Formats: sequence, C-alpha cells, structure tokens
Amino acid sequence: MKSPTGARFLGRTAIVTGGGSGIGAALTRALVAAGTEVWCADIDLAAAERVVESIARPDKASAVRLDVCDADAVRDLVEAVVAARGRIDFMFNNAGIVIGGRTQLLALEQWNRIIDINLRGVVHGVHAAYPHMIAARGGHIVNTASAAGLMASGLLTSYSATKFAVVGLSNALRSEAAQYGVGVTVVCPSAVETPLLETGKVGDFRGRDFFLGAENSTRAYSPERLAEEVLAAVARGDGVLVVPRRTRIGWFVSRIAPRFIERRLIDFVRRQTSSSSVT
Ligand SMILES: NC(=O)c1ccc[n+]([C@@H]2O[C@H](COP(=O)([O-])OP(=O)(O)OC[C@H]3O[C@@H](n4cnc5c(N)ncnc54)[C@H](O)[C@@H]3O)[C@@H](O)[C@H]2O)c1
Repeated sequence: MKSPTGARFLGRTAIVTGGGSGIGAALTRALVAAGTEVWCADIDLAAAERVVESIARPDKASAVRLDVCDADAVRDLVEAVVAARGRIDFMFNNAGIVIGGRTQLLALEQWNRIIDINLRGVVHGVHAAYPHMIAARGGHIVNTASAAGLMASGLLTSYSATKFAVVGLSNALRSEAAQYGVGVTVVCPSAVETPLLETGKVGDFRGRDFFLGAENSTRAYSPERLAEEVLAAVARGDGVLVVPRRTRIGWFVSRIAPRFIERRLIDFVRRQTSSSSVT
C-alpha cells in the first residue's frame, strides 16, 4: 500500500520538543519510521532517552535535554543540527503543559510558567529554525496547539490563552513563509491519551473527566494515530489540523453559532464546579 506521506520524510532532519512523552514521543517514533532523523528533545532527558531506546532504529534518533524556555539552548540545538547535517527540515514545537482550574486560584507564577513554555517555547523554536529554512528555501514548522486554541474554555483560561496565541502565530507565519517555500502547520487536537490529562490540576479541577466531558466523549484520542495524521497533514501541506471529527464539527458550529456554544460551555463549567465548596 502507498504511504500517505510518500517520500516526504525520507532522509530529512527534525527536532521534536517535548519528545519524551505522549504526542512528542509518538511523533518521534512516526518520523523515524518514515525515514527522518530525529532529535528528541525534552526537559526530562531520561524520558527522551527511553523513547529513543524504544525505537527500532535508535541510530536515527538522538535524545537531548532541552528546556524550551531557554532561547539560547533552543538556538544551540538548531545550530548543532544544521552544523551536523547541513539543514533542519522540520521543527516540531510540541512541548507544553496544561493548568486547569478556577482562574482566581492561579498564582502569577503559574501564568508566567505556562506562557513561558507554551508560547515562548514555540517562539524560541520558530526564531531559531525559521531563518535556516528561509535560507534553504524549504522546511516545515509544526506547532502543537490544541482545540482549546480554537474554542476557548472556562477553567482552562491560561491554557486557552497560550494556545490561541500559538494558532495566531502559526496562521500569521504561514502566509508569510509560503514565499520561501516554508510550510507551517498548527495541530489542534482535543483530548489525547497522554499523562498531560492528569497534570496541572489546580483546586478541584477534574483533569481527564473535564477534558472528556467537554467534548462529550468517553475516550481520548490515541497519540500514535494523531502522529500519523500530523505527518499526513504536513505531507499534504495542510495549515490547520483539527481532530477528531466531532471537534472539527464543534469548531464549525462555534464559528456560525458562537452564542450556542458559549451557553453550552457556561452550563458545562457550572456543572464541573457545582459539587465543590471552593469558590
Ligand atoms: N494530551 C492532550 O489531550 C492534548 C490535547 C491538545 C494539545 N496537547 C498539546 O500537545 C503537546 C504535548 O502534550 P502531551 O499531551 O504529549 O503531554 P505530555 O505531558 O505527555 O508530554 C509533554 C512533554 O513536554 C515536556 N516538557 C514540559 N516542559 C518542557 C520544557 N520547558 N522544555 C522541554 N520539554 C518540556 C515534558 O517533560 C513532557 O515529556 C502540548 O503542547 C499540549 O498542550 C495535548
């Protein structure tokens, strides 16, 4: 059977940030399987090493410790890949965290942290890789945002804010980068089965139950399936990838009937918070 990505990833180079877990780990594996050499970069080096060791062709992936908040470190990694292989073909700005809970309970440090990782981390990746792609007249930047970057949700205020910014950055850059032959894809999934669903809980936030309830679902999406869809979207040159299908429908409805979706969200958030004494 013909691969949906053809030879698009064969003999290429990629950096995947947040490659040590969840979606980044699945992207690393899918890229190596498609013939790309991957620098699997994570603030948790041991996690990145485990991902690389689990790959059938570990010689095609390198684990590196990287904090995406550190602009110099991101630039140094991109420069090292370009120095070693002559080019950086794909920059997957995927590292991210979530913080869920009532906005009044968030400390300013939490706001700053999520902005640093989810937004500045992406900015650092773009700032470091994009000039090399322009010079090479080719390359592709893939930013992992979220469905929360297309449809804002209460109890995810800081997360939604960063993800809307990543969608805006990606869409703006796409129209500018096209003249250099550089592609930009922004990935907007709803709940994906990764450790993130149960992290970043503030106060009475319900984590996984919240994310699944928000989309009326009982199952989160598979990271492996998402990674395959991301590669296929990049190969097609799609600008925005929204999965699963019901999220695409929800996004469409939110644009033609925003008040309807907003009323549903107000009810949902009220139900999520009504059984708790926290205010
Ligand atoms: N899981 C979901 O439901 C879901 C849905 C939509 C979007 N996303 C987005 O997908 C991306 C990946 O999330 P995931 O679900 O795979 O989560 P995850 O927690 O499984 O993996 C995130 C990885 O990022 C790494 N990381 C965190 N801070 C970092 C930093 N400062 N520098 C480098 N690496 C860092 C972590 O160590 C971890 O390995 C995130 O941007 C997230 O917002 C996730």
